[in-house]
Amino acid sequence: VASAHAKVILFGEHAVVHGRLAIAAALDRGATARASEAGEPSELHLAPWGRVARVGEDDDVARAYEALLAQIGRDLGIAVRARVEVEVEVPGGAGLGCSAAIGVSVARAAFELAQASEDGDAITRAAMAWERVFHGNPSGVDVAAAVRGGVLAFRKGEAPRSLSFPEPLELAVASTGEPASTKQMVEQVARQLARRPNVVERTFDGIDTLARAAEAAIAAARWYEVGRLMDLNHGLLASLLVSTEKLERACSIARGRGALGAKLTGGGGGGCAIAIAPGCGDAVVEAWRSAGLDGFVARIPATAVAIGASP
Ligand code: MEV
Repeated sequence: VASAHAKVILFGEHAVVHGRLAIAAALDRGATARASEAGEPSELHLAPWGRVARVGEDDDVARAYEALLAQIGRDLGIAVRARVEVEVEVPGGAGLGCSAAIGVSVARAAFELAQASEDGDAITRAAMAWERVFHGNPSGVDVAAAVRGGVLAFRKGEAPRSLSFPEPLELAVASTGEPASTKQMVEQVARQLARRPNVVERTFDGIDTLARAAEAAIAAARWYEVGRLMDLNHGLLASLLVSTEKLERACSIARGRGALGAKLTGGGGGGCAIAIAPGCGDAVVEAWRSAGLDGFVARIPATAVAIGASP
């Protein structure tokens, strides 16, 4: 049995796919996988959706599961067969890293089943093989957050860095209820980059500058500054056309209810918004609920606590 974190992106989504800095915060919830011995074919049971995917079937979940097991097999030098059951604690397709959390928890459980000791790099490789099937060109930030927990600075091709900060970070997370496809949004931004390379590269550079400033502000718990930087990051994301009317509404309700800043989180096009709300997370969530939006408060502990593999 093994678990992995879901996440929110505090800074840098989309730009991170193109080599810029992102900052992600793992949530205290995510996915849990239970693996047991299996014959052929290996099966993945996704309890929340009542789905069973079998290796060899012609659909994305089955292909992703096959890619994950094949990667573990290459790393361990054995054929891996497993029956895995997954429970999740966050909605899928909402920008909260549900698929990465599932991929990492399944990879961890499969490693345990093979009696291999936990190997962060190998688990990352297996979960990335899974993510590539769903997201085409994932930066790896979701998988890094799912594996490591805590708050981390991530740049493609570099080792993720865990950030520490002196007091807990209180966030409010709103769900617009609009389904969002990260793959489609990443492709849409790539098309804009091809059409208007100068403008979009400069937008990515702007986001990178904000993420770097945010790293220093988070380390010193300067939440007011973090909030202003979030508002600016949201503006640049909106200029990439990944915001929606509901995301805009969620952000402005949060700011009006005392949040220090707000932005969409993840791929956009629907999904979730986050607000930095020290001392007023519950009030922000209540304001969202009165406006018909679902939400929850996420308290990110000052010291990272990894939920990791089971003992
Ligand atoms: C998704 O959580 C974040 C994106 O930047 C995609 C990625 O980094 O793979 C939109």
